[in-house]
Amino acid sequence: MEIKNVAIIGSGIMGSGVAQVSAVAGCDVVLQDINDQALERAKSSIEFSLEKLAAKGKITPQQVETALAGIKFTADLSQAARNADLVIEAVFENLEIKQNLFKKLETLCRPDAILASNTSALPITEIASVTGRGDKIIGIHFMNPVPLMTGVEIIRGQLTSDDTFETALAYLQKIGKEPIEAVDYAGFIVSRLLDVLMNEAVKMVQEGNRPEDIDKAMKLCAGHPMGPCQLLDLVGAEIAMHGMETMARDFGDRYKPHPMLRKRVLAGLLGKKTGRGFYDYSL
Ligand code: CAA
Repeated sequence: MEIKNVAIIGSGIMGSGVAQVSAVAGCDVVLQDINDQALERAKSSIEFSLEKLAAKGKITPQQVETALAGIKFTADLSQAARNADLVIEAVFENLEIKQNLFKKLETLCRPDAILASNTSALPITEIASVTGRGDKIIGIHFMNPVPLMTGVEIIRGQLTSDDTFETALAYLQKIGKEPIEAVDYAGFIVSRLLDVLMNEAVKMVQEGNRPEDIDKAMKLCAGHPMGPCQLLDLVGAEIAMHGMETMARDFGDRYKPHPMLRKRVLAGLLGKKTGRGFYDYSL
């Protein structure tokens, strides 16, 4: 099956990015969220991103038009799921929420539809375990910011079929992404390494290092494109904390989030999405 109709569930930063890149590649996309305000925000951010990419010559004005025409926005889950070849969920990082969503999707989607999770840390087999179609379930882990990052992790659950895997690979190639296969353990490859790095940076700030210095050191001394404090602000402190908690649950206490990371989450210092993290984005 060639993926043509894609439904994205959850219109936050990741969901809207996935909708955007899928539509630029010519897929018919439905972006679903539970309320109209979230959908409005997603629409504006997609328009902003497309215009920025077009202004830099990274996509053509024709692609902007095709993409904008190719995305439908809806609050109705059944409408989004009904005709989809591929559903990608990008909802809140919570196992129960994702499992409940997959149970619903199983009843709403065509029997041959592929159901993918964009979770950054939860094992795919665990999400799939509440459904009766583990062969059609897969992890497709996009990176933030989705329109700029080429790499995507692709994760087979215990029951994922070769057909599902090959179809998901072909979809990623069609939308211009480079798939990397990761084994189905908490955090996969990328979050397993990056969450630890960001958690350690939080610890180092508490020990007295300045975020600016940590970031500068990692950019100039280790060649990272952005430092771990900037990165935490980009992905969101709550995402890194959830990743650490999931890994601590599966691998033991050495992955426990630092208490200061938890405090920052409780204080709403999530980063760009709340306007304040290590840096101030309120202006
Ligand atoms: N759409 C369009 N433009 C965007 C954008 C988007 N979604 N997001 C940012 N930009 C723009 C910025 O506004 C900026 O624009 P200006 O040039 O007008 O200021 C520009 O992109 C920055 O891009 P550059 O290429 O000039 O800058 P750069 O060389 O620093 O690259 C980057 C930016 C690609 C983000 C780079 O810093 C990078 O690779 N950072 C690491 C990101 C990373 O590690 N992502 C993975 C995080 S982990 C994850 O996502 C998994 C998870 O589940 C938590």
